[in-house]
Amino acid sequence: MNGSSIQKEILIAPSLLAADFARLGDEVTKISSSGADLIHLDVMDGDFVPNLTFGPGVIQSIRTFSSIPLEAHLMVWHPDTYLDDMKEAGVDRIIVHQESDVHLNRLLYRIRKMGFSVGVALNPSTPAAFLEDVLDLVDLVLVMTVNPGFGGQAYLSGMREKIARVKHMRENGRGLSFRIEVDGGISPVTAAEVVEAGADVLVAGTAIFRHPPYEESVVRLRSAAVAGTPS
Ligand code: DX5
Ligand code: ZN
Repeated sequence: MNGSSIQKEILIAPSLLAADFARLGDEVTKISSSGADLIHLDVMDGDFVPNLTFGPGVIQSIRTFSSIPLEAHLMVWHPDTYLDDMKEAGVDRIIVHQESDVHLNRLLYRIRKMGFSVGVALNPSTPAAFLEDVLDLVDLVLVMTVNPGFGGQAYLSGMREKIARVKHMRENGRGLSFRIEVDGGISPVTAAEVVEAGADVLVAGTAIFRHPPYEESVVRLRSAAVAGTPS
């Protein structure tokens, strides 16, 4: 397949991190029927990143309120130790950080073997080239557009080039077809730029949950993203 012929629709992945946790079931129900394509779940261990969120137990409860796909973005050391519980919780895709495990090849194989969709993430300071030898093992590459740990941070415009580099690596003739996701500071203002660079899955917390109603914030983000699609 000619890489340049890869045309993918833009997927919108609301990050639950910006939801009202005191009304989590209600928030999950509402976002699941908002037109969003999947739900992005930020799992943080207070060590790999300087923040704590939730784990498989909470995700299992979330699962009962939603039938759209759930992806777990694991911002943790030793991500392998959580995989069984994530499976049990009903997670569809696992995204691990390249920086979190020196045996990334083995980890990605294991995630695949367990029946998950496989994603790998890069911190802003990690070069795209560090993924060169695992790209055939993944369904998705997540280019962090903020330093992970918190919602509501400003988009790092320097990541534009990295997104484009990852896209270039996909389209080098090896028949790769992974999606390119971006996460952090994504809003109707930044969506067109990241899509133009090559992103096709947009994670957004603040831009969706802090701008209700969710049907409208999802449409606003999707419309802004489509404006960046090559014509
Ligand atoms: C940050 C998380 C993001 C976060 C994005 O570490 O990975 O998913 O929720 O939040 P916004 O969209 O508010 O930047
Ligand atoms: Zn995330």
